[in-house]
Amino acid sequence: MANINWMGWLLMVLLVGNDKTVPVSCIYVDEPLLYDTFPPNFVWASATSAHQIEGAWNVDGKGPSIWDTYTSQPGIVAEGATGQTACNSYYFYQKDVDALKSLNVSHYRFSISWPRVLPDGIGRINQPGVDYYKNLIAALKVANIQPMVTLYHWDLPQALEDMGGWLNSSVADWFEEYARLCFTQFGDDVKIWVTLNEPWITAWQGYGLGVSAPAKYGPGTYTYQAGHNLILAHAKVYRLYESSFKPFQQGKVGIALNINWYSPATDLTADADAAERALQFMGGWFANPIFGSGDYPSIMKQKIGEKSALQGFNQSRLPEFTQEQKIFVQGSADFLGINHYTSFLTEDKPSDINDISYEADQDLYAYYDPSWYGSGSPWLKITPFGLRNLLIWLRDRFNDPEMIITENGCSDTAGNLDDMLRIYYFKHYINNVLKAIKNDGVKVTGYTAWSLMDNFEWRAGYNEKFGLFNVNFTSPELPRTAKASASYYAQIIRDNGFRTDQPCNNYPIS
Ligand code: BGC
Repeated sequence: MANINWMGWLLMVLLVGNDKTVPVSCIYVDEPLLYDTFPPNFVWASATSAHQIEGAWNVDGKGPSIWDTYTSQPGIVAEGATGQTACNSYYFYQKDVDALKSLNVSHYRFSISWPRVLPDGIGRINQPGVDYYKNLIAALKVANIQPMVTLYHWDLPQALEDMGGWLNSSVADWFEEYARLCFTQFGDDVKIWVTLNEPWITAWQGYGLGVSAPAKYGPGTYTYQAGHNLILAHAKVYRLYESSFKPFQQGKVGIALNINWYSPATDLTADADAAERALQFMGGWFANPIFGSGDYPSIMKQKIGEKSALQGFNQSRLPEFTQEQKIFVQGSADFLGINHYTSFLTEDKPSDINDISYEADQDLYAYYDPSWYGSGSPWLKITPFGLRNLLIWLRDRFNDPEMIITENGCSDTAGNLDDMLRIYYFKHYINNVLKAIKNDGVKVTGYTAWSLMDNFEWRAGYNEKFGLFNVNFTSPELPRTAKASASYYAQIIRDNGFRTDQPCNNYPIS
């Protein structure tokens, strides 16, 4: 491996010279580490989400969420697992705070369960639910850790799904009511808000493929309608905060987008165009309206419009923003949150016109290089170069926004405490963030490791473990135990970067 790294590095230097202007598709291998520090006041965080850790799914007045409903059906989740108990953080949150404290993080990114505070989604407030988050925030305060709070991490109140969920355009009003409650109750202590976690997953997997709650199937239609309503709901909540809370609470509000990196598979222009298209369909879909022109990327409008006409639709399957909506949506974020895990190679490949889907609309084929290291998740290949490339791409396409890495991490299936793979992952991905800041001038102000602890990994149940802390799910006390990666991450945070004299920064792990 050391040889491959060395040769790859030499090849890259020959190809691109001094790396100030690295063409974004050229970095395929691990480069030498950059030994330097992050800017002062850099946000260091770790993250979880409500449904993945809280448990207590039906106690103290909490209403059911679409994930409670979805996982109650047999055969959906590996081994019939559910989030009904998970890490039981509703009761054991102090253990989470203790774990966070040992990491030296400045921030904890967690999400509020909408149906825990509003069991019906709107209307009646559930005071014990509100109190739970107040207690968590108070415990964080004692530990000197700031909350970074996500309003929506996929657990829509079932009562709202029964009224159409993200396909009903009233969802923007429902989301606004919920956000107003959260800003009112918690806003004095929360200075970083994330409206939506990964709207792409909700739109494409939840309402398109139907492989995630609420499992609606409309891969070329519902997908875009849900996406449209998600963007408008996000903007509504941003504008609410801007006008009614920001003046005195002084926080910032962003959105967390999951975006893979796509490299062209060959030198062909058609493949470079395909890679750009993949990035625009995944990241630009949500980023361009909010951080760019106020509208969808032109390649999406063109492709979906042309295909819709050929498929006999009387209008594009991609909804249109009115002029008024474009103005409302454009600029509706103080920072861009990036959830990033993996990369693909991309080839141009026309789709069958009878295939009416978001995937087919892109006319491309994306796949993994077989030489890339794997992880505990089939979809996650270890490609640290992708994060730096992505940050440069986002800077160039969306007006150099402030960015926070709101998720980045790696799974295994063993949950072992000597998790060398995870150390390798964090080392190289975080170092690529440092290079993006120092060498490329990208405005990244924070980094969040996913996840604080092993937890309910959605349809993969408890088999794919992302934690810095192991959770012993067979013990009723659910003890959290630090893995080696927790010490490594704590060390990076302590050093605010990479020092040459730290052993872990020096040895090749493969
Ligand atoms: C989600 C997390 C999830 C992680 C790993 C992200 O897409 O926000 O909830 O656990 O990826 O799959």
